[in-house]
Amino acid sequence: MIELLKQTIAALHGDMVSWRRHLHRHPELSFQEQKTVAYVIERLKAEGIEVRDGVGKLTPSSPGTGAIALVKGTKPGPSKCIALRADLDALPITEVGKDAYCSLNPGVMHACGHDAHTSMVLGAGIALHRLRSEWSGTVMLVFQPGEEKEPGGASLLVKEDVLNNPKPSGILGQHVTPELPIGKLGFRSGAFMAAADELYIAVKGRGGHAGSPHLCVDPVVIAAQLILALQQVVSRNNKPGRPMVLSLGKVIANGATNIIPDEVTIEGTLRTFDEAWRTELHALLPELAKGICKGLGGDVDFTIVKGSPVVKNDPELTARIRAAAVEFVGEENIVDMDIRMGAEDFAYYTHVMPGCFFRVGTGNPAKPGTQSGLHRAEFDIDEDALAIGAGMMAWGALSELARRRLLT
Ligand code: NI
Repeated sequence: MIELLKQTIAALHGDMVSWRRHLHRHPELSFQEQKTVAYVIERLKAEGIEVRDGVGKLTPSSPGTGAIALVKGTKPGPSKCIALRADLDALPITEVGKDAYCSLNPGVMHACGHDAHTSMVLGAGIALHRLRSEWSGTVMLVFQPGEEKEPGGASLLVKEDVLNNPKPSGILGQHVTPELPIGKLGFRSGAFMAAADELYIAVKGRGGHAGSPHLCVDPVVIAAQLILALQQVVSRNNKPGRPMVLSLGKVIANGATNIIPDEVTIEGTLRTFDEAWRTELHALLPELAKGICKGLGGDVDFTIVKGSPVVKNDPELTARIRAAAVEFVGEENIVDMDIRMGAEDFAYYTHVMPGCFFRVGTGNPAKPGTQSGLHRAEFDIDEDALAIGAGMMAWGALSELARRRLLT
């Protein structure tokens, strides 16, 4: 079966490259993926695959730019189900390079490889459909909108409860990465990626002439104290060895050389792995900020917008998918990865069903752009990875369905 699958995927590689390049040329921002999802649905329907559209609604009246397809094996046997997830959205970045398939939408770019994820799940689904007489059960293809933006398309699909007919016993997700060379697959059991929350802080003072600070309450100096105090939570309050990051990437004090402003606004991100500590921090950080700002004569509004939880890779499912990956690419091509402080809305699925999120190497020093980091204007992938990622998704699904068949 593995050889048959590899041949089927190899025959689809040219198609996957052209789908990926089409999507790359026509990127759409989070929750605006109308053309992207229509393109995916067209390809699925042309193969005779059943699709449900209009899922992942941001508001009750929005169209829902996600789709769920069911690929059914026709070999007699028990009807189990496994889900494969792809994300559809692009980022607000102006692309550079790639003459052959550069973005045609100014200021929008597939800089996180979601075009590749979509092409790979499409390829996996179509390959499995073409081999449907060889296996039994159902493979659910989940094309979700809005991975890059809160509240995360995955959270909407979970809330809409659309991953239930039939109910998958687990879900697989993948992400391209330039950190791994082409040919490699990266796995980690248990907690893999961080919970991420957004911080919005407004330090309030009383502005005035910069030459008369005694008549003002200077929010810039208060903000400076607050920024350092927040880092001390990481180094002093946090238990050593417990992963945590607090970064403040935006600080605006809109005064002038001779003007003390009324307010300083600060924005940042809080990354954690421990849910209890995360909850504690949501109380501790605003309390600390209040104490500092009030103590210095000002005040503060401290808002925390809760984002994705931790990506929890189910240890049993991950062990089985890793074993399937050894069969597919060989032990020498498996990399056991460390935790990452990045976030991923795939996390939401992993809190309602067993999940396995793995990395697909796309770096190749011989191909320009493939060494560039994610979310950068130069980002590109080695397209040979499309066959590896699609094949691994399909092989992972077949392995799970076959395993369950043995057990029943
Ligand atoms: Ni991404």
